[in-house]
Amino acid sequence: MRKKIVAGNWKMNLDYAEGMSLFSEIANMVKDEITGQQLAVICSPFIHLSSLVQLAKSYDKVAVGAQNAHQYESGAYTGEISAKMVKSTGAAYVILGHSERRQYFGEDNQLLAQKTLTALNNGLKPIFCIGETLNERESEQHFEVIKTQLEEGVFSLSTEQFEQLVLAYEPVWAIGTGKTASSEQAQEIHAFIREQIANNYTQEVADNTTILYGGSCNPKNAADLFAQPDIDGGLIGGASLKSRDFLDIVKVFN
Ligand code: PGA
Repeated sequence: MRKKIVAGNWKMNLDYAEGMSLFSEIANMVKDEITGQQLAVICSPFIHLSSLVQLAKSYDKVAVGAQNAHQYESGAYTGEISAKMVKSTGAAYVILGHSERRQYFGEDNQLLAQKTLTALNNGLKPIFCIGETLNERESEQHFEVIKTQLEEGVFSLSTEQFEQLVLAYEPVWAIGTGKTASSEQAQEIHAFIREQIANNYTQEVADNTTILYGGSCNPKNAADLFAQPDIDGGLIGGASLKSRDFLDIVKVFN
């Protein structure tokens, strides 16, 4: 059975003390709400990682992740953070391919394929994000865009490597805009993604892959979204900065 995950993406928010305190608040609130194959993951800025991992040791259903890692193992790349460094903090996950990285930092599918491989080689589990822009949806290219992002980003991985991934469908037009995809729109794409995985690997691999929805997911719309057969949880931006909202989204699982 595939894992159900609610992952928080704090983005470039919270100083060190604020991050520590929000994490403790969230972990305490969600710990009794998460059972079985469910997991909460907090993806923080790099500066919080090692301390959050220490805090997370008291909660077996709360994991920690980064929001990025470099494609190369090490070297003269001033200001960058390698996958090995992320792993050495004890963090288990790393978000890759987020649309803000694609848009503002020029990360394309080829670069993301490299980053994914490097993350996997260092024992991290990528939360790999894909999604179309408004323009692409309005011109009805969304299926093609998603297919290409999968093919160029992750489908050259071996089965063993692919099985380490979590995927996140995040329509760019829904991120931080308050405009969520309807549960039907999201389900349609999630089913399509699962079908592509089955075509490229096997039905079993597809059935075991956790596919999250992201983009203005909040306590009000989470129940509808998570009730869809191919939506296995959420990648939460804005609402992950408020412990109560994050808790209410996690509660939707039950
Ligand atoms: P949002 O962000 O929930 O604020 O729309 C989601 C994300 O960017 O992962």
